[in-house]
Parts: sequence; C-alpha cells; structure tokens
Amino acid sequence: MTAPIDTRPHTPRVFSGIQPSGGLTLGNYLGAIKRFVAMQESGTPSLYCMVDLHAITVWQDPASLSRATRELCAGFIASGLDPEKSILFNQSQVAEHAQLGWVLSCVARMGWMKRMTQFKDKAGKNAENASLGLFGYPALMAADILIYHATHVPVGEDQKQHLELTRDIAAKFNHDYGVDFFPITEPVIEGAATRVMSLRDGSKKMSKSDPSDMSRINMTDDADTIAKKIRKAKTDAEPLPSELDGLEGRPEARNLVNIYAGLADVSAEDVMREMGGRAFSEFKPALADLAVDKMAPISGEMSRLMQDTGEIDAILARGAADARAIAAPILKRTYEIVGMVGS
Ligand code: TRP
Repeated sequence: MTAPIDTRPHTPRVFSGIQPSGGLTLGNYLGAIKRFVAMQESGTPSLYCMVDLHAITVWQDPASLSRATRELCAGFIASGLDPEKSILFNQSQVAEHAQLGWVLSCVARMGWMKRMTQFKDKAGKNAENASLGLFGYPALMAADILIYHATHVPVGEDQKQHLELTRDIAAKFNHDYGVDFFPITEPVIEGAATRVMSLRDGSKKMSKSDPSDMSRINMTDDADTIAKKIRKAKTDAEPLPSELDGLEGRPEARNLVNIYAGLADVSAEDVMREMGGRAFSEFKPALADLAVDKMAPISGEMSRLMQDTGEIDAILARGAADARAIAAPILKRTYEIVGMVGS
C-alpha cells in the first residue's frame, strides 16, 4: 500500500551542520554553536550534524577525520548542546543523506551548480582537479536539510547561496512531481556582529587554517593561552570610542568589541557605553578575563570528553538512530513520489 503523501503545513524543525575538518575556533563558537544552544533552549526540535561526508570533498587524513568528528561532538556538548534535548550525530551514520542526495542531484541543474561561488573559491584555479563531490556538495547539503523536512537552518553568511539553492531544489521537486512535499527552508543567517575576525588582521575571518596560532582562539585552548592571545591581539593606539561610529576604519578594535559583546551576550552598543574612553591596556584585561571565564570551562570539558571516545561514540550512535527514525519515512515517501518500486 502506498503511504499518503504528507501535505501538512511543515512543523518547525531546526537542522544545521558543521564540517569536522580541523580544529574549532572562537568563530565557530560565537558564530554557530552558541546560536545552536540558544535554539535548543527555545524548545524547537533540533538536529546538529557533524557533516563528515562533506568534509571528504577535499582530502582528509582518515585518522584526523575521526578525531575531528569526535572533537566536534565534544565541542557541541561542552558548549551546552544536550544529547537529551537535541539530536547530535555524524552524517555518514545516516545513509538517507546520501540516498536523498542522489535524487536531488537529479533535480538540481548544472547551470545552478556552476553559479555556486564557494565551489569557485574552494576549487580555485585548478577546478579541473577538484573532486566531483566538491562540485555536487550543495545537492548533498540540500539533502541534509530536506531529509528531515527542516524548516529553519542557522548558518553563516557564506552559506546563504547554498540555502537559496536548497529552496530552488525543493521547489523544483515539488513542482515537477506535483506535490507539496519538501518545505521551503528559512535561512537563519548569522549577523555581521557575530562574525569573528583574526586577532592579527581585523579584515580577515578567524580561521583554523591561518598559519599563525596567535590569530585565533581555539576551543581547546587553556586559560593561559586564551589570556595571552587576547593580550597580544593587534589593536591601534586610540582608546575605545563611546559610540559604534567611532569604530569605523578600526577593524581590530571593532573585532575585540564584537568578541566582548558575543561572550557577554550584550550588544556592541552596550560594550561601547560601558567601555568607551578606556585604553586597550584596560579593555584587553577585561576581555581576557571574560574570554577565560566563558571559554576555559568549555576547553576543559572538551578534553575530559575526548578522554573517553566510547562515550562520544555512544552519543553519536544514539543520535544517528533518532535521526534515522525521522529520515527513513521521508526517504521512503520520496522514492514513492519518484516512482521507485519498493516493498
Ligand atoms: N556547508 C556547510 C559549511 O561548510 C556545512 C553544512 C553541510 C550544512 N550541510 C549543511 C550547514 C546543512 C547547514 C545545513 O559550513
């Protein structure tokens, strides 16, 4: 018997993913993970995925990939994601992602994919030598979201184009098959305020791949390292202004103010009101204390969790089972809609 096609208005569900392709930084924390925790606390059912299948679109050393996946899971949990409240899992354990990914690859058009700016950036001049997976990756990302009928997807600004593609793919599928099956997902884009920049160059994003470790705060840094990096962060000679406009043309000062605001959970205006007129020799120690206060417990908890990978693996297995329980019926209906014969 054919299951009826679900045409109910889509109930809210959050999905987001992070690639386990190296260390986690303060940028991941303030820009993504902290917002995931807030969404979890709002009570909307949420899935947070370590997207290992995405990571291998560029070469990953196998042992490093396993480690990065577990470390990302530890980072999620240490930051406040609770496996009892949110579904935490790694993508490869739920085969439905790849299965729906194939179907959606057949819905997406070459012309759409060729416009993806992230592929052009990542493939660079040597696009002929990029993997086919790197080119097709946005169709898999659409599958990650649509396999759960997710309605809300918190991501950074750089993923906006991929989310628009996800909407296009969902709409084309619904149109081509004459169904109202996949929701048209809402992006929840991270604001510029939460974008964390390099501590050495305020015009560059804080990155795990920057050759200088002093340019970033790693989520695994201990208290002394965090404080030292903040103390040595690049600044200029002027004291802090009392209004936001005064940060114009001062990217390093703006970045430290944004970091303070993000960690203290206040607006940049609030920080200016409190700190305006102070020299960096006063502001930096305050910021260092705040950063140590918020981040050192997280790095401590991460290293504790990493000592028992059995516990992490059990959490991921449970998350994968919960995720599969949602994904399997949606894949089944998708196959029915498409006309695949099944039993
Ligand atoms: N492409 C995202 C990134 O590189 C990661 C990602 C994969 C993702 N699938 C997703 C994010 C689904 C949100 C939803 O940052």
